[in-house]
Amino acid sequence: MNDLEQLAAAARADFEAAPTPAELENAKARYLGKAGRVTELLKALGALPVEQKKTRGAEINQAKAGIEAALQARRDALAAAELQRQLQAEALDVTLPGRRRGTGGLHPVSRTIERIEAIFGSMGFDVAEGPEIETDWMSFTALNNPENHPARSMQDTFYVDMKDGEGRWLNLRPHTSPMQVRYARAHAAKYAGVDPMPEIRVIAPGRTYRVDSDATHSPMFHQCEGLWIGENVSFKDLKVVFIDFVRQFFETDDFDVRFRPSFFPFTEPSAEIDIAFRSGPLAGRWLEVAGSGQVHPNVVRAYGLDPEHHIGFAFGIGPDRLAMLRYGIDDLRLMFDGDLRFLSQFN
Ligand code: DAH
Repeated sequence: MNDLEQLAAAARADFEAAPTPAELENAKARYLGKAGRVTELLKALGALPVEQKKTRGAEINQAKAGIEAALQARRDALAAAELQRQLQAEALDVTLPGRRRGTGGLHPVSRTIERIEAIFGSMGFDVAEGPEIETDWMSFTALNNPENHPARSMQDTFYVDMKDGEGRWLNLRPHTSPMQVRYARAHAAKYAGVDPMPEIRVIAPGRTYRVDSDATHSPMFHQCEGLWIGENVSFKDLKVVFIDFVRQFFETDDFDVRFRPSFFPFTEPSAEIDIAFRSGPLAGRWLEVAGSGQVHPNVVRAYGLDPEHHIGFAFGIGPDRLAMLRYGIDDLRLMFDGDLRFLSQFN
């Protein structure tokens, strides 16, 4: 072996021994780099006589071509090995069972609200929705809570430090009762001049907010407002409608209902509605399920209607409470923690 063959063999061996592309490039520099051994040989040509220069030059170039070929071969081999490694790392085992996508389901409160809507819907009630950020006027003033009256603090309202376009203070609605006013005003405007005006019969479910939190109170909770206004709608009608609702909701006749005198600024007279099952795990316990009453004349005026001609009742149901009773849930907070282990039981 002459010196050039030895050099090419050494280079090939160096390249083969390089375990990574970076080390291979270092090895390349030792032969083909600026100060590499092949480069040194080419530089040394200058000192040779002309005839020798030709043959020696050709030999060196041949050896160089061999070294470059060996370099490329090793580069290709390293790249192929890397590709193989990646393919293996990302290998898919197509024989594994697939991962199932869980089917979604409705929250127990949503189910309860849908149930309430279906039952009242069957009794001819419309379903309405309204804003959760409400004006002070809608939340209180229109509902016969005088401005600055201490009764306003009966509800631990979340006030928002902001006014609407008409300069009315905003709050997170503490109840769905503003929807009585919004719906009735729209109804009165729609049927202005129509005599007799068609009755108002509506429920308005939705989220409500108060500064309150324990096992039976959550700062966000749900209410469902109900309103029936006509020319001759009385407390008797409230009783019929509500008892029928409870019967359908719990799918039983085996309960007692009690209208317990109470106070709300927007109704007169007012009553809390309690029910007691006669059998089952809750038998004999009075459970409060709604507030209700005959709509106060001042509220009828806020509807834009004449209390001499339009009369009726309103009620506010707690869907969270109804869901807890129906499903036997004892802690309200469970419903709003978002824990799928709890929630998926209802689907
Ligand atoms: N808005 C009342 C509350 O949040 C519930 C209520 C009571 C609504 C009586 C009514 C009603 O419509 O007539 O406590």
